[in-house]
Amino acid sequence: MELHEPATGNHYTVTHAPLLKRYAVIGNPIEHSRSPFIHEQFGLQTGLALRYEKIKAPLDGFTPVVTDFFAQGGCGLNVTVPFKEEAFALAQAHLSVRARLAGAVNTLWMEQGKIHGCNTDGVGLLNDLLRLGYSPQGKNILLVGAGGAARGVVFPLLEAGCMQLHIVNRTEQRARQLQEHIVSRMPQLASRLSAGGLAQASGQWDIVINATSSSLGTTPPDLPHGLYRHGALAYDMMYGQQATSFMIQAQEQGAGLTADGLGMLVGQAAASFAIWHGVNPDIQAVLHDLRRQLHSA
Ligand code: ATR
Repeated sequence: MELHEPATGNHYTVTHAPLLKRYAVIGNPIEHSRSPFIHEQFGLQTGLALRYEKIKAPLDGFTPVVTDFFAQGGCGLNVTVPFKEEAFALAQAHLSVRARLAGAVNTLWMEQGKIHGCNTDGVGLLNDLLRLGYSPQGKNILLVGAGGAARGVVFPLLEAGCMQLHIVNRTEQRARQLQEHIVSRMPQLASRLSAGGLAQASGQWDIVINATSSSLGTTPPDLPHGLYRHGALAYDMMYGQQATSFMIQAQEQGAGLTADGLGMLVGQAAASFAIWHGVNPDIQAVLHDLRRQLHSA
């Protein structure tokens, strides 16, 4: 920075240590978030110096914390439970189509003085399905759950060309509301999207995705038997040290492959990283490291 000293007319230069661009994940709870590790690894891979923190916002104080973060020069935020809907409201004027259809935002950034929002959860899931060799194109997909996690992936799955997407939920009405939310905004998708209760999950599915929070406990969703077409994929958006109860149930019922959501986690982070930095990082290397960490924890 060059300064002019009025008394002497001298010019002199002040050098600062380079200020790292600041990013963070914001949620409550946030202690166990792996986002700082993931983004730091992406930064190392791509040669971008950055600082990535965890911020625990009070349950009733999300907006002031975000506003303050950006006012202090913060560049980007990942948003996690339970604030994705509040983030959506905050970025209302500058939302991506995916965020608008999801009704939830997991990625915020500042552009020309305005807060922008996107939802990268769906991209994270799609990338992981492709990595596993299960392109949604032309597939019959059963989506179990109608909460925040499910909302983020309905439109991306339809956009990726699945033949039929059937949403089922323990509370049937929520599944129907989610269906109506999408169809009212994109009527052309109506013929490929259906909804019902868990008992109406019957069919032969190529991909079954668990977007419920059932895997926080030990009981899988109460689904009918015979859901899996030969070679079908059972995908749990949650992850843990061991296979989730949904994955075990699917193995017992003849799924061809089961997978947890660790790849989706890294994929959504990679998509946020690309929005913020304009560079696509390597998902596979970080996923490998995270899996190792999880097993040795
Ligand atoms: P999230 O943001 O993680 O999706 P949420 O919005 O509270 O959290 O939604 C949780 C989802 O998991 C819901 O679809 C919930 O079903 P209900 O709408 O009937 O509550 C579902 N869920 C949670 N535990 C479940 C279980 N044991 N079996 C089936 N569905 C379950």
